[in-house]
Amino acid sequence: MSDNRRNFLKKSALLGLSGLATGLLGNEKIAALEHVSETFASEPGKLSLPALPYAYDALEPFIDKQTMEIHHTKHHQAYIDKLNSAAPGSFDFNDDDSTKCRKIDTSTPPLIRNNMGGYFNHSLFWPLMKPNPDKKELKALGKLGDAINSNFKTFDDFKKEFSDKALKIFGSGWCWLIVDEKNALKITTTPNQDNPLMKIAGDQGKPVLCLDVWEHAYYLKYQNKRADYISNWWNVVNWEKAEELYKHK
Ligand SMILES: [Fe+2]
Repeated sequence: MSDNRRNFLKKSALLGLSGLATGLLGNEKIAALEHVSETFASEPGKLSLPALPYAYDALEPFIDKQTMEIHHTKHHQAYIDKLNSAAPGSFDFNDDDSTKCRKIDTSTPPLIRNNMGGYFNHSLFWPLMKPNPDKKELKALGKLGDAINSNFKTFDDFKKEFSDKALKIFGSGWCWLIVDEKNALKITTTPNQDNPLMKIAGDQGKPVLCLDVWEHAYYLKYQNKRADYISNWWNVVNWEKAEELYKHK
């Protein structure tokens, strides 16, 4: 089934039209209505799943193909679908993604807070990883490398603090390297799908690096061994992307 057809059936169900579409109209009419789904799917301001910048198996052996495929096509897609089905008026789809996050405070409905975070965090997470087929040790260079050394003494000290904080997150959440309002680098964590751009975050700032420590990010390969997942994730960090985010802070 094409994505457009799937979207149409989904929206039809939401509108209470699925019975009409499948029972009364028949396949010919459904085909004729495909253009409606295309219109809906491409409605301005609606969010869509960003393409993964590498193949699902490209991060092997550090992150496995099956996890990447489910994580991207099921989990990330689900946040987007829920966000797009939000009640009209409860969310401004015309804001850019960072602004959408910055508007989230304690009064924001959980549906918007959780799914906007889920959409944004994963959209940031994918390009912050890259294949490392030669299994080389990776390190931040340039201005970001200098700033990490300045803020955390050494790169290894930074890695240790980040890894420890990621490991200690209770339940589901994210670990972040951010630039705060004083232009300092800081490692922080957020629960669930919150992120440091949101007003509700304990430490606010602009993300430079992030790590998803929800079990869906590692359980198929690592089961309960979150520490092993974190340790292996350092092998696929895209430091060039992190440097780019840091320069545009
Ligand atoms: Fe995730």
